[in-house]
Amino acid sequence: MKIVLKSPLDMHLHLRDADMLKNVAKYSSSCFAGAIIMPNLVPPITTIDDVKAYKNRIKEATKGDIFEPYMTLFFKDSYDYDFLKEAKNFVKAIKLYPTGITTNSEGGVSNFDIDNLRGTLEAMSELEIPLSVHGETDGFILEREQEFGKFYEKLAKAFPKLKIIMEHISDRHSVELLKEYENLYATITLHHLLITLDDVIGGSLKPHLFCKPIAKRYEDREALQEIALSGYKKIMFGSDSAPHLKEKKESFEGAAGIFSTPILIPALCELFDKNGKLENLQRFISDNAKEIYDIEPLEKEIIVEKNEFLVPKICDGVVPMLAGEKLLWRCQGESQ
Ligand code: DOR
Ligand code: ZN
Repeated sequence: MKIVLKSPLDMHLHLRDADMLKNVAKYSSSCFAGAIIMPNLVPPITTIDDVKAYKNRIKEATKGDIFEPYMTLFFKDSYDYDFLKEAKNFVKAIKLYPTGITTNSEGGVSNFDIDNLRGTLEAMSELEIPLSVHGETDGFILEREQEFGKFYEKLAKAFPKLKIIMEHISDRHSVELLKEYENLYATITLHHLLITLDDVIGGSLKPHLFCKPIAKRYEDREALQEIALSGYKKIMFGSDSAPHLKEKKESFEGAAGIFSTPILIPALCELFDKNGKLENLQRFISDNAKEIYDIEPLEKEIIVEKNEFLVPKICDGVVPMLAGEKLLWRCQGESQ
């Protein structure tokens, strides 16, 4: 059995920079037609020159593949209308991180008063630049996303014309919010569809499944699966694939981030197939994103066949999700 995916898109991706970028970019550019590129480099991407230069480095690293990097800026409450007007020509979204909440987010927002953010957000709303958000408070780890929900509601009400993307939702309460507010949209990762906290710490500690937001309860995973498998229009696939070297994950202070790129398409096919929902995968992995972001992706067809795929144990120094395990689907051209 085979299926064809048209122009798959990864609407939340960390490609890093320098050697890591050179090593990991091919895993995305070989099987996706484009991706929204996260700006949390050190230092973060905050100027138009940064955006242009980083885009060039990504283009260089993905040379030869049909792949469009859709760039983003790191949100600052000091961005003004004129800056944003110019930035709109180069970015597809602006990513807001609460300060210190995850990898390389120092320099994010610390004052969540709506009035403090109003200038930048009103300008974004007027210019139709989507706001992408890492939605977690600094509260108890399992409740961080739910607590952040109050802020999502405030934002959605204060800026009804602003497209707000709740990134990598991991909590069933976020699914409810999404249905309630017209201007809220969301990405869902592969890992939040597959694992719960039990997989991370329920048996032995699995550093390669440690990420922010942390995987949650079974009922959360169920709610995420239900909405993703249904092809619901306001949900897009965004992997949040976030490579860190093996030594940085298996260490005294393990870095947050799951490197899922090498398995994304086979694992999504397996999940949608197992649930009898393969017909909705095209919407989840491309069509919904096209509408939400109003983009016309590069034309690319990926053929995926129902045939065993042994996940490599390591990819250029980074341990991928499900390393060493077998998947039931594989992209055509993939070895084994
Ligand atoms: O686990 C994560 N890793 N979550 C994020 O939000 C950032 C990412 C990273 O950049 O490593
Ligand atoms: Zn991310």
